[in-house]
Amino acid sequence: MLDAIDLNDLSVPYGIYPAVLEGRPLVQRRLSDLSGCFADEAAWAAALAQEDALVYAVSSVEPADGEGQLHYGLGILYSGKIGREYYLTKGHLHAHRAAAEVYIGLAGRGEMLLEDEAGEVARRCPLGAGRIVYVPGFTAHRTVNTGPEPLVYIGVYPSSAGHDYGAIAGRNFRNVLVEEAGNPVLLKREVFLNTN
Ligand code: F6R
Ligand code: MN
Repeated sequence: MLDAIDLNDLSVPYGIYPAVLEGRPLVQRRLSDLSGCFADEAAWAAALAQEDALVYAVSSVEPADGEGQLHYGLGILYSGKIGREYYLTKGHLHAHRAAAEVYIGLAGRGEMLLEDEAGEVARRCPLGAGRIVYVPGFTAHRTVNTGPEPLVYIGVYPSSAGHDYGAIAGRNFRNVLVEEAGNPVLLKREVFLNTN
């Protein structure tokens, strides 16, 4: 399912990078790693009982640490849904809150869900082939695949950014991206849970 590719190989046509970076640390997240992430817990448990599906994988490149240095990751988020909610990443704030990030979409179709730290302000940003999303500092960010193909992207961030999953694990995102009549709609989590 995951083919190793070389991003420096110019013979690979633009837009087909559903892959991992050979020789780089790879984090794979399966349904079992995403406990508490999906709104519909019963649908998540039922899907997990069927198969512990691979939801996404990220290869990280950390060339150097220290002031001015950048790290980046190549992510592939597969297509799927748990109940009406699209496959998503865990989502995080950066441990160094001020650190921003740029996401560059390479293939597929999806969105980024951005929320301020208090969860009061939410924004959805299209992410897909040829789309760029700027994630400001102090912003929780989650990637969502709303399309039928794998969503492939690169995220570039300061080497000092770090990941803080705990803050999101404690409260989850306040909003969910769910399918309604074939389209993704953004709903408050509580509203979705009360009406689903
Ligand atoms: C790095 C970054 C991305 C994510 C990747 C997986 O700061 O934002 O490389 O790490 O999209 O998402 P998480 O880390 O939330 O599981
Ligand atoms: Mn990040």
